[in-house]
Parts: sequence; C-alpha cells; structure tokens
Amino acid sequence: MLELHSKLPNQGVTIFSIMSQLAQQLGALNLSQGFPDFAPPQALLESLSHATLHGSNQYAPGDGLASLRQQVAELFLSRDHIQLDPITEISITPGATIGIFSTIQALVNAGDEVIVFDPSYDSYAPSIELVGAKAVRIALQQPDFSVPWQQVKDAINTKTRMIIVNTPHNPSGSMWSKQDWLNLIELIQASNIVVLSDEVYEHLVYDGHRHFSALSFPELRQRSVVVGSFGKTFHVTGWKTGYCIAAPHLMQLFRQVYQFANFCGVTPVQAALAEFMQQHPEHIQGLSAFYQRKRDLFNSGLQDSRFIFTPSQGTYFQNLDYSAIRPDLDDVAMCQWLAHQHGIVAIPISVFYQHPPQDLRLIRFCFAKQDQTLAQAAKILTNC
Ligand SMILES: Cc1ncc(COP(=O)(O)O)c(C=O)c1O
Repeated sequence: MLELHSKLPNQGVTIFSIMSQLAQQLGALNLSQGFPDFAPPQALLESLSHATLHGSNQYAPGDGLASLRQQVAELFLSRDHIQLDPITEISITPGATIGIFSTIQALVNAGDEVIVFDPSYDSYAPSIELVGAKAVRIALQQPDFSVPWQQVKDAINTKTRMIIVNTPHNPSGSMWSKQDWLNLIELIQASNIVVLSDEVYEHLVYDGHRHFSALSFPELRQRSVVVGSFGKTFHVTGWKTGYCIAAPHLMQLFRQVYQFANFCGVTPVQAALAEFMQQHPEHIQGLSAFYQRKRDLFNSGLQDSRFIFTPSQGTYFQNLDYSAIRPDLDDVAMCQWLAHQHGIVAIPISVFYQHPPQDLRLIRFCFAKQDQTLAQAAKILTNC
C-alpha cells in the first residue's frame, strides 16, 4: 500500500472553482471569479492568429521574447520614469502565479518567515508553506484595509525573509499610498528582507489614485521583485502570461529556479502581446476610464439597495457590506443564499484570511462584466 502525505493538508478545492460551478449549476449570474465576460480587443486576437500562422510556434527564449520585454520596459519608463534593462531585469512568465511561486522558491528557505497581509490572494500562503517556510499573516485593518504598521514592526525578526505586498489589492480594492511604501522602507531598509510586490492590477486604478510600484522607490530597487499580468490588462486571463521584474542579482536567482518550473512562456501569445502593445498604446491609457465607468455603472445601480459600500480604488472588484440585509449569515452562507435565492454568485471575503474577523459581513463582486450583466446584477441586488 502506498503511503502518501499531502504537502498541503489543509487545502481543499478553491472557493473560485466552487462558486463558478455553483453559478453554472444554477444558471446564476456569475460575478465571482475575476475575469471579463467580454471579448479582448479584436486587433490582439488578430495578432495572435498572425503569430501562429507565421511561425511563432516553437519554444520562446526562457526569459521571454525580447520584443515583449522591451514593451514592458517602455511602459515602466513612460509611467514611472524607471529605467529597466529588459535583458537582465525582466522575465516573461506563463502568468503571474508562477512568477510568485518561483520568486518564493528562489528567495525563501525552509525555516524563514514571510509576512503576508490578509485578506490575501490564495496562492501566497501555500507557495510559502511548500518551501518549508512560515506565512506570518497580518490582518489589514477594517474598514479601509489599511496596514497596521506597528504590528508589522512587531512581527519582523531575524527569520523574516520576505514581505508580500499587493497593490491595488485583491479582494478589497484598496491601494497602497506613498506613505505606506515609506513606512515599509523605514522598517526594512537595514534588514535582509526582500519585497515581493504583486502589481497585477497596476493599470486598473480609479478616481485619480496613483499606483506606486515598488520599483519606483530607490531604497527598494535592489530588494524587490515585481510581478504583473497581461491577462488582467488585456482582458485575456486565459492566456496566462505575466512578467517578473527585479534587479539583476535577484533576477539571476529567480531565473535559476524558474527555468525548471516552466522554462518559457507561450510563444505566439508573447508575440501577439508585443505587437499589440506596440501598435495600440491607447488600450492601457484608456483602461482606468474603461473600468471606472463599469464600476460606477454597477455602484449607481445599487443606490437604492440595502448594501453598504465605498467605491473600489483599484482592481476590478467591488466589495459590498450586507449587514443591513442578512446580518445572521456569515459571508459563505450569504453567497450561498444569494446564489440559491436570487441567482447571483459572489465571493466571500473570509476565504482570503487565515483567521477571518468574526463580524465580517463583506462579499466581493467582479465588475469586469458587460454593461447589461452589471445592470442586471445591480437590479437583482437591489431587490435583496
Ligand atoms: C492578486 C493577484 N495576483 C496574481 C494573480 C494571478 O495572475 P495570473 O492569472 O497572471 O497568474 C491574480 C489573479 O486573479 C490576482 O488577483
């Protein structure tokens, strides 16, 4: 008899799969998982078709197509005035998730500690545990999901190897201010701690908020790895293509590991993204306005509802507080109730925590949806 033990004994099926399945089963409106229900830009699809028909079908260089790395470098230069060397500082990966996983594999050792802010994206803690390190989870403060800096200071010790930042933040839609970054710098500048900065929603920011990349702070430039995702930016989450940026000494460590995790990203997808980015800079320039309008469409439809909310600052998620509707239900039960009784599916916020606050009455909706879906969702929710 084989004797096998799970390396992640506490992990079941993710809530995202459960909720999407429930939506399908019930024929419910699915605003749970974070992906658009509308088509990507036509020109991007044509670029992909062109790439496959014209020979971009074999392995790409391990670090990514030079043309796409150049586009990423140009974006950081134009947005943040950050000079990046595409050869030594940028790698293209098949999605941000493998970038996060490989960064942790490369930079964290067994016995180390990694600080994670809850609610947190679900891949962080398992990736940390798989290297035999400990995820030290610090809950962001309610109601604005701000960082409890004193707690961070108290949590740092000689074992702390990494702090994971996610801004704009999934699931809360909050963003780090410049002051947050300065607080972090003060705490770690004399330490041996690296920053893993998950910036996959970097281009989805609203109401004049500014996204600060970890790379824009000279004090963090040599100790940060930034991950991004083309999937979020170009409405192609299924293309699973992202990037990883770090100073050469960190990037070298990253690549040593990543080359055996996946070796390279998908070639025609990289070619298509590079061509589209070069030919259509207006896509990214218009992205915040595009999603802000969708957020506002959803939120204005909720004006007469009993849900309470503050507009999301970034990402394509809007959290709604349902304590005036069913305070008796926890958020998982609330999502089940909404699915079964009202035909709409959301994500409970508690699943992003190690120890969810007892009185949490928040659920997450994705507004990367067609206008008619958003209007219909708002109508259903208003009648709850
Ligand atoms: C915060 C965060 N990081 C990383 C990812 C993963 O991105 P990708 O699909 O490129 O792996 C997601 C996707 O939902 C996310 O929300």
